[in-house]
Amino acid sequence: MPDQNNQSIKLRVNGQDHELELRPWVSLLDALRHTMHLTGTKKGCDHGQCGACTVLVDGKRVLSCLTLAVMRDGAEITTIEGIGTEENLHPVQKAFIEHDAFQCGYCTPGQICSAVGLLSEGKADSREEVQDLMSGNLCRCGANRGIINAIMAVKQDMR
Ligand code: FES
Ligand code: FES
Repeated sequence: MPDQNNQSIKLRVNGQDHELELRPWVSLLDALRHTMHLTGTKKGCDHGQCGACTVLVDGKRVLSCLTLAVMRDGAEITTIEGIGTEENLHPVQKAFIEHDAFQCGYCTPGQICSAVGLLSEGKADSREEVQDLMSGNLCRCGANRGIINAIMAVKQDMR
């Protein structure tokens, strides 16, 4: 018998359709990690303060811990699993490796999703603007300098 507390939603995640039955209070982050088993997206603070859970929703950067999955019914979601492949890394992923932009790697999926969103927004020109627009993604290992260097390098290549 269907659970009356659940709500049916459809999400397209990394190009794949998912039909889900979820409690209305389940965050997009928990739906990704626990229901769809996409554990690349990380849970840091679970309160909108660290950026570890950043994914792209219809191309825009979103903190998935602050978003209820049911609010995103019909949306197109991209997680770190949908950005590049092992054989064919996204330019931002390559730049993160080249510029030493991670240490423990916990913040990295969120940083990369955020950087990809930032680059497609086309807003930030200067290093300061990039720093400012990436300030919602914290790195406890202090890899920030490498992260900004990596993003600036990709921006340079896009010119
Ligand atoms: S886990 Fe979402 S902002 Fe920290
Ligand atoms: S690489 Fe460890 S938190 Fe950023």
